[in-house]
Amino acid sequence: MKKIALTGIKPTGQPHIGNYLGAIKPALELSKTYDSRYFIADYHALNSIKDPNILREYTYEIAATWLACGLDTNNVLLYKQSDIPEIFELTTFISAFTAKGLMNRAHAYKAVVATNRENKRDDDDNINIGLFTYPVLMAADILMFDTNVVPVGKDQKQHIEIAADIAQSVNFNYKKNLLVVPKPLISETMDIIPGLDGRKMSKSYNNVISPFLPAKKLRKVVMKIKTNSQGMEEVKNPDDCNVFALFKLFATESEQNDLRKRYLAGGMGWGEAKQTLFEKLEDEFAAKRNNYNYIIQDKAEIDNTLKAGALKAREISSKVMQRLRSGAGL
Ligand code: TRP
Repeated sequence: MKKIALTGIKPTGQPHIGNYLGAIKPALELSKTYDSRYFIADYHALNSIKDPNILREYTYEIAATWLACGLDTNNVLLYKQSDIPEIFELTTFISAFTAKGLMNRAHAYKAVVATNRENKRDDDDNINIGLFTYPVLMAADILMFDTNVVPVGKDQKQHIEIAADIAQSVNFNYKKNLLVVPKPLISETMDIIPGLDGRKMSKSYNNVISPFLPAKKLRKVVMKIKTNSQGMEEVKNPDDCNVFALFKLFATESEQNDLRKRYLAGGMGWGEAKQTLFEKLEDEFAAKRNNYNYIIQDKAEIDNTLKAGALKAREISSKVMQRLRSGAGL
């Protein structure tokens, strides 16, 4: 039997090349050898996105991105979290096995408390129960589908460990392996993707590059990448440059060496380096952008795809939930 991989993306903004390299591309690679379940974590997004039109739009964008990048629904389950009612039943179930202290120690929650303290606000300011119990819902996402591995960025590692803890508590209590204990599969790529300003690429820093922008707009964004103020003739250091760091993520070894030589030779301005990066991005994304534009204009078809995915997913989730209910005497 193939092992099971599962991951989710929150629809909280337009997908960017950090999501693509850190999550989508490795997950699609993994789907060649794992039984794979990839979903849109819309209930997680609800914690921050309260406008229905925006939530709907972002959800379509994430679905279209998966499909445009090559997710084959004959081979991979693609669904929306909110379409799987068993996830919310499981959330309640495992809440009975989740120590409050475990939630107190969760990074995402602790970060908001820390910001509140810095700003001399009440600890609970800006914190709803959804944020506090975020790791329980995430554990339910994972445990619902008998997941063996969860491909995620380093920032999510603790959440997977919490899910594993919860699964073990349940199994220990019933003296039975009712739940599969998951493991994180950490992609380091995410942490080395610089955004426009050189900080880690992230929606919250507003420094992202969205690859499905029209080519002209994408070029404009690339031209905004921060560089030093060296003039055209000067010799430049590729290893201390955001443009080169981004180029490396997409280029072959020999393409990297060619551009490196041009940096070191002098006579190449920043505009030219950025143009080279832009062309590389076009190589990677032009065809995918065409797919994306085609897919995103037919929202009804995306709805159909997600509904079909949910139907197949529920065949699994209803069985797992049944296993738990009977195990627990419910
Ligand atoms: N918390 C994840 C993030 O912010 C998204 C997510 C929700 C997730 N549920 C999941 C990821 C289950 C992996 C597995 O990126």
